[in-house]
Amino acid sequence: MIIKGLKFIDLFAGIGGFHQALNSFGAECVFASEWDDHAAKTYAINYGLKPKGDITKIDENDIPQHDILCAGFPCQAFSISGKQKGFEDARGTLFFDIARIVHHHQPKLLLLENVRNFQRHDGGNTLRVVVQTLDDLGYSVDYKVLNASQYGLPQNRERIYFVCFRKDVVMDTFSFPSPQKHKIQLKDFLEKKPEVKPVVRSDIDMYKDYQPQEDADGNIVLPNKPIQIGRVNKGGQGERIYDIRGHAITLSAYGGGVGSRTGLYQVDKVIRKLSPRECARIQGFPDSFKIVSKITQAYKQFGNSVAINVLKAILCQIEK
Ligand SMILES: C[S@@+](CC[C@H](N)C(=O)[O-])C[C@H]1O[C@@H](n2cnc3c(N)ncnc32)[C@H](O)[C@@H]1O
Repeated sequence: MIIKGLKFIDLFAGIGGFHQALNSFGAECVFASEWDDHAAKTYAINYGLKPKGDITKIDENDIPQHDILCAGFPCQAFSISGKQKGFEDARGTLFFDIARIVHHHQPKLLLLENVRNFQRHDGGNTLRVVVQTLDDLGYSVDYKVLNASQYGLPQNRERIYFVCFRKDVVMDTFSFPSPQKHKIQLKDFLEKKPEVKPVVRSDIDMYKDYQPQEDADGNIVLPNKPIQIGRVNKGGQGERIYDIRGHAITLSAYGGGVGSRTGLYQVDKVIRKLSPRECARIQGFPDSFKIVSKITQAYKQFGNSVAINVLKAILCQIEK
């Protein structure tokens, strides 16, 4: 399937990770929905398209015809409570809104993303209802947990990705892209003069015996994952310090600790969080992407976003 020229819709659009990836393949966005005003503003400024609000209030007849439906839908818990009626069991959930739009428009391809634990939610029943519902709607369903760390981004971010073709469009099962072999470091994604303050505290504890692993030639072995080298306070969430020759931890929309949402890193002898621009980079956003919200909202937006490079690798595979 060639993506260029296809029309897509962006549900639960956030700041448009799906939009970035699909645009880079030449697809055109014809509709977006995002109810958070700050994210919607960032979206509108960057893509010239103002997202509509609450998807549960939008009639499917008011959504334009499209070829691809994208949705990084929130992991909203829903329990099937033994009824096992698929589509009906999802009623009242945000997945139901995806399903009713798919039912009406029958796009050729669905691209969905959720947290890694989605597959284990409610003992696997949630995933079963999703797969059954999409199958009933006429789609083949392939899903896999992929880590952004293995697709060119220095961030440990495991997410479940769904690629669902309308059965009459593509008959084969889909093979997800293989992990990329080359190693990368967070160091190469950092700003020279970031607008984040150093963390200055008396309870910073750097691990004295930490030595990066070296190969036979004395070169540092890049581990392609976060390497903790110290802590602040008790080393709880947002209190761990990492080496920038490794990867960042998962960016998150919420979370506490002095390093909330990004974790802490030792950069040029200073301990600091990542800046919003650095967060943008490790989610795959180009530097031309405009960050228009205040810092707390910007962290939330990048913490919620999808890892663009993983989507690009999936789109490449779809084109193959
Ligand atoms: C996990 S984030 C998806 C982010 C997006 N994929 C991106 O790349 O930025 C889920 C988004 O869904 C939005 N959302 C949640 N419920 C919604 C609803 N009923 N209608 C519209 N947007 C909603 C949230 O505000 C949040 O931005």
